[in-house]
Amino acid sequence: MFFQRCVLDRYIISGGKPLYGEVNISGAKNAAVAILPAALLCSDVCVIDNVPMVSDILTELEIFRELGVKADVIASNTVRIDARALNTYIATSSLNQKFRASYYLLGTFLSRFGRAKVSMPGGCNFGGERPIDQHIKGFEALGASVDVDGGIISAVSDDGLRGTHIYFDRVTVGGTINVMLAAVLTPGLTILENVAKEPHVVDLASFLNTMGADVIGAGTNLIRIRGVSSLHGCNYSIIPDQIEAGTYLAAVMATSGKVTVKNVIPRHLECITEKLREMGGEITAGEDSVTVTRTGRISPVNVRALPYPGFPTDMQPQFAAALSLADGESTITEEVWDNRFKYADALCAMGANIEVKPQKAVINGVASLSGASVVACDLRAGAAMVIAGLAAKGTTTVTNIHYVERGYENIVLKLRSLGADISLVKDE
Ligand code: EPU
Repeated sequence: MFFQRCVLDRYIISGGKPLYGEVNISGAKNAAVAILPAALLCSDVCVIDNVPMVSDILTELEIFRELGVKADVIASNTVRIDARALNTYIATSSLNQKFRASYYLLGTFLSRFGRAKVSMPGGCNFGGERPIDQHIKGFEALGASVDVDGGIISAVSDDGLRGTHIYFDRVTVGGTINVMLAAVLTPGLTILENVAKEPHVVDLASFLNTMGADVIGAGTNLIRIRGVSSLHGCNYSIIPDQIEAGTYLAAVMATSGKVTVKNVIPRHLECITEKLREMGGEITAGEDSVTVTRTGRISPVNVRALPYPGFPTDMQPQFAAALSLADGESTITEEVWDNRFKYADALCAMGANIEVKPQKAVINGVASLSGASVVACDLRAGAAMVIAGLAAKGTTTVTNIHYVERGYENIVLKLRSLGADISLVKDE
């Protein structure tokens, strides 16, 4: 079964080969995990295309089926969600602990049923807390009473939710999305201020509007939602994955070569490609593609991970892998998560020189990395280890790859098509 994939499954990488060619980028995982539960807001059928078939999505569909929703993969990246039979607001399956975005059922159920009971979510553990106080603040402001007990979050509004003005104390992607979901069927005007502006927040708003919602301002600091009485089914295609595209671009910087990422929105990649240029990469953007060429040694840079449109925190581990090979000292400052440098030990085991300080990694570039056996500790950390392995001399084995498979569709096939020597070995 997909979910029980053994932790000993591994990627074996014979490094040192430049990457050349073209790679199709899949739909955005972090948009899909929000849009699929949004489809449960209506008692109707939604057909959603460009859904990445990664393990987080397969888990989410499994949770929906447990709730009585018909959730069918009707073509390779197309999902049909029929939520007409959904009549429960309780989602306390153990599957919820497998990924972070399972908590989007809170906003969805609150909106549709006026109450919700959902298990605390799981997801990548970066080593610090992953609080949900801003989600709760938003639900309470809309009129719900929220209680967290024994790993279950319950939210209920006996008198019905009402639109209101919510100012988030800090920018949160999950908080913005969950409260948007709760507000779309809530009577009155809800104004969300100091919200996340990530492309996946905008994509969710577009999806909701395609279902008949009235959401304006997504992509700015302020989102205005006028509650509607019902939503209808629709057909929708998810935006390309900014982080998957950035990961392939970073891999080329580490290995050298020339690769075109296709089916992308170049504007979403600018916060990444600007840094790649500074590192000495040659970047050309087409209408829906970006090409990176890297020949000489990478120049060191300073990276600051910030909410969008800043440099994405979900790209800093992959950049750390590339910058390990830069000609001089680079720094990565993390301003989104309290601790996201757990990957540094693995890169150092491969010969990188990284010193981790509070919220900052100082990377002194080395001339080459060497293959080693490393253990992925979260999704993007695992991607960084794959990139380091592609660039290293000798053989690298990455275990715990279930993390990587949560967010990268067909990563082995895609890298092999670019000339990488990587294989997936299953622990039979
Ligand atoms: N935070 C709070 N209170 C809250 C919510 C968040 O203090 O109520 C803090 C967090 O602890 C963190 C910061 O705010 O320090 C930002 O957290 P955010 O809520 O934005 O993160 P998230 O929604 O849990 C999503 C992505 C992450 C990505 C972050 C930041 C999904 C499913 N996950 O997480 O993606 O790192 O936004 O952009 O959308 C990944 O894809 O590898 C990944 C971890």
